[in-house]
Amino acid sequence: MSEFKVSETVNSKLKTVDWNNLRFGVYFSDHVFITKYKDGKWDEGNIVPYGSMPMEPGLCTLHYGQTIFEGLKAFRAVNGGANIFRPDKNAHRLNNSAAMVCIPPYDEDKLVSAMKQLVKVDKQWIPQHKGQSLYLRPVMFGSSNFLGVTASSEYMLIVMTSPVASYYAEGLNPIKILVETERVRAVTGGLGMAKTAGNYAASLLAGQKAHQKGYSQVLWIDGVNRKYVDEVGAMNIMFVINDELITPSLDRGAILAGVTRDSVLTLGREFGMKVTERDITLLEVLDAHKNGVLQEVFGTGTAAVISPVGMLHHSGKDYEINGMKIGPVAQKFYDTITGMQYGEIPDTRAWIQHIDF
Ligand code: COI
Repeated sequence: MSEFKVSETVNSKLKTVDWNNLRFGVYFSDHVFITKYKDGKWDEGNIVPYGSMPMEPGLCTLHYGQTIFEGLKAFRAVNGGANIFRPDKNAHRLNNSAAMVCIPPYDEDKLVSAMKQLVKVDKQWIPQHKGQSLYLRPVMFGSSNFLGVTASSEYMLIVMTSPVASYYAEGLNPIKILVETERVRAVTGGLGMAKTAGNYAASLLAGQKAHQKGYSQVLWIDGVNRKYVDEVGAMNIMFVINDELITPSLDRGAILAGVTRDSVLTLGREFGMKVTERDITLLEVLDAHKNGVLQEVFGTGTAAVISPVGMLHHSGKDYEINGMKIGPVAQKFYDTITGMQYGEIPDTRAWIQHIDF
């Protein structure tokens, strides 16, 4: 396990945190991990105080968006120390995203070590209560200054952390989602599988309009055939139809390979459920609703965890799901995953990496 040099802050912001009103991504912890890529290699990397970074107007990433990120969480474990949930999966996905936008890979084991050490350095920033966690946000971007449309020659990888509560104001209460039929998030052959800034920029206008109409987010429909369900943007989407757990497959290459998505599919199979990854049309979902067999809809994501969807809105019509209540399937996944994350139930799959302190 790598050990990184640490320069500790002399000006902690810990006392500025309102722990009873954390929300999502509002507070930033005292330290970050930073490593720089230059002349074909990453430097040794170190942990330094969080602070502003010098930047030139010619920074290539500002112009052409050569940037990717990740999201994962550390939890205060009930028996002491902290648990990080599947950091190896996030480190691997970061490199998958990197390859799609010509960013050089970073050693995955080293990144996991850096994240564990960072969490230990800022252990006081890990919230105390269940439902809260320390969110880790690795971000990697081109850091050269030039205006030609080519890959940067220099890069930075930064991991910052943020104490968070639930992503949606609704918490575990069902959210309402608007089916977006006009705009698209990503298309096959594009960057939909990369966790890159452009996908999120592409979602802003639709998200804003959905908010104005009282919906939390939009459900994206595929950009090529305009009929298959893709994802919600901040989370993957799952349907329970006739007791079968169905989620859009990754094969069309347009949605993010979610770590929580993978965890739910694995657990669903272990629970003995019928689990299917396949293309699913919006029409099939609405038909299932009409026929009374759409039992549950929920989103999965690091930030969102398990987020029940209580209503889908499409073409001027609201489709209420499970009486706007969380269903037993979503509840079971939520209880199992969060139970493991906080160390309340055994981790039999080596998903948890424990940090002692
Ligand atoms: C996550 O679930 O970690 C995400 O990155 C979604 C969103 C906050 C951008």
